[in-house]
Amino acid sequence: MKTKKTVIVTGASGLIAGYLLPYFKDRYELTLLDVKDTNREGNRIQGIHIVDLVDKDLDTYRDFFRGADAIVHFGWVHCDNPKNQFRNEMCNVQMAYNVYQTAMEENVRRVVMASSNHAADYYESLILDGKMDLVTPDTKPLSHGYYGWAKETYEHLGFVFALGRQNNRSLENVQIRIGGPRGTDLERCDRGDLRRVRRALAAYLSKRDMAQLFIKSIETKDIRDKNGVPFQIFYGISNNPHGFWSIANAREIIGYDPEDNSEIRFRQLINEHIQAAEKNKQR
Ligand SMILES: NC(=O)c1ccc[n+]([C@@H]2O[C@H](COP(=O)([O-])OP(=O)(O)OC[C@H]3O[C@@H](n4cnc5c(N)ncnc54)[C@H](O)[C@@H]3O)[C@@H](O)[C@H]2O)c1
Repeated sequence: MKTKKTVIVTGASGLIAGYLLPYFKDRYELTLLDVKDTNREGNRIQGIHIVDLVDKDLDTYRDFFRGADAIVHFGWVHCDNPKNQFRNEMCNVQMAYNVYQTAMEENVRRVVMASSNHAADYYESLILDGKMDLVTPDTKPLSHGYYGWAKETYEHLGFVFALGRQNNRSLENVQIRIGGPRGTDLERCDRGDLRRVRRALAAYLSKRDMAQLFIKSIETKDIRDKNGVPFQIFYGISNNPHGFWSIANAREIIGYDPEDNSEIRFRQLINEHIQAAEKNKQR
């Protein structure tokens, strides 16, 4: 009898996969896919199968997908040149389609996608300006850039696959709008810039909370919405008192119970920022 779930991880040489693979490796039977087998530091990642998931010929990688319990999609084409960004994001939308379509054809049960808070980043400045209090996964997703637009687009594509009318089969789907997982956002704010500090405190996502969120998104049996569609969008943040993206649905549907809290983790840095802001005021 199979004891471990089989999980395919795309973009497995990348940053976010690097954070999560240590949590996944004993828990799942993993297949790692990427277009390269070195991480951002140039170190080789063991066990990567080289595939190009932007390639429209699904036959070049479908064997890896066959019968898996879940696919966790971190594959993402990074763009250095803003002039190419729209074309680049079209590649990311194409890659998302290829992953959904192959997963559907190869009887994968669920796809868990790395989306981003940028899917609805238009609202962020309204919140920081005090014109709005909270964004939920039900707030109409609007972005100020192509990156967020692409995330929203492949979230919506995920819904089409989850609904199953287009293909006569439903592909379960979770979209995780990752917040700020690096832990360096607060350090990088200019001392005393309390607007950026607030954003950094709101967005923080610790590695262990991110692992919990992804694991529960992979493993929770029933992820149907109120209309019976197996589709969810969850914000990926820790238990941040400054948070302005709602995680109430993640708490309710998959029992997400984040252990970390940006105010506690960064209390010393917060103090430095407040003192600097007070000094700046006196000048
Ligand atoms: N890093 C963050 O702070 C952050 C925040 C929010 C959301 N996200 C999202 O998480 C996902 C992963 O981000 P990351 O920071 O790990 O990016 P990354 O660039 O470090 O990793 C992406 C990986 O995808 C691989 N890839 C690129 N093209 C591919 C292709 N054609 N086929 C197969 N693999 C391919 C790359 O080689 C790379 O290893 C992205 O969707 C990103 O938007 C990241």
